[in-house]
Amino acid sequence: MDVKHDFSLAGLNSFGIAVKAALFIALRNETELPEIFKEYARENRPILVMGGGSNILFTRDFNGLVIRNEITGIDCVEETADYVLVKAGAGVNWHHFVMHCVDNGWGGLENLSLIPGTVGAAPVQNIGAYGVELKDTFFSLRAWDIAEKCFIEFSAAQCEFGYRQSIFKNQLKGRMVIVSITFKLLKTPMLQLGYGAILDWLNEHQIAAPSIKDISDAVMAIRRAKLPDPAVLGNAGSFFKNPSVSAVFFEELKELHPEIIAFPAPGGFKLAAGWLIEQCGWKGFREGDAGCHARQALVLVNHGSASGKNIVDLAMRIQESVQTKFGVTLIPEVNII
Ligand code: EPU
Repeated sequence: MDVKHDFSLAGLNSFGIAVKAALFIALRNETELPEIFKEYARENRPILVMGGGSNILFTRDFNGLVIRNEITGIDCVEETADYVLVKAGAGVNWHHFVMHCVDNGWGGLENLSLIPGTVGAAPVQNIGAYGVELKDTFFSLRAWDIAEKCFIEFSAAQCEFGYRQSIFKNQLKGRMVIVSITFKLLKTPMLQLGYGAILDWLNEHQIAAPSIKDISDAVMAIRRAKLPDPAVLGNAGSFFKNPSVSAVFFEELKELHPEIIAFPAPGGFKLAAGWLIEQCGWKGFREGDAGCHARQALVLVNHGSASGKNIVDLAMRIQESVQTKFGVTLIPEVNII
């Protein structure tokens, strides 16, 4: 087993924040879990399970045990004329997995191309982009129950997926180590083309009958044009969720701000948080090395040596100004530690 003490996490979180873990274990196989928890779990020792570190902001050293999920493997576990059930290890890189599915002609994940992170982290916040969410193709997952010390399987319903939500962020927060996920993917894909920028890209490239590879290429081009590459500029994607508001409150906002960008959502409307932040003047803002991205105001960035606290301070100032100008509360999507 790979156990390290006072281990630097600087290269293991996409914000590039230089913090240390008191204890660090790279988990390579689910069979290591019983021993890890027998040997290293202590009553007062906090435990953090990490994937690609792409949705996390460290504000201090982690004075406990970090388990980095590095379980690999992609297997087709069932195949019919219509669909495949594909199982992936939690430590598999998400985009690598999506490309594997696209290359095999298995449809359903193509709109989720190029999302940073790992397969195991994807269900925790039900990742989503360009009209598709993880829950749309999710079949089941397997996890180690830290409290009961056993493996259990979760169906989609048991995961309680919502917008950037699941049971693993709520009742079961900190309780499960996800080890693998199974997806149900279609051999005759149902393409999701509802997002305007995808259609624009297809028209521009004169593609009338797109394949899943074309959709994946379109999504990658759109993401590259708007979102900073964490390998170049530290960030964790959208820092806040798009806030949901009632239809009544939305109408009031629209009276005051006729240009407001919003989308119908269960119970009312979802506001484009990037637009709200931009209207408050933050787009492209930089103070020291903490900043708000110049092409997507919803993304906070580390230009070099910002601390987690610098980023959180900026996030709080943004929250306050959006609250004051629009009366809307922004809730972070990123996990702040
Ligand atoms: N907008 C602005 N100014 C900005 C940013 C956005 O006016 O600075 C406007 C855009 O013009 C657009 C609307 O806001 O009309 C929505 O913007 P965009 O399509 O870029 O998507 P988003 O709502 O900002 C969400 C997800 C992204 C996902 C995209 C595409 C959340 C919190 N974020 O962003 O997910 O890639 O849609 O589907 O739901 C992530 O979760 O980390 C993430 C990047």
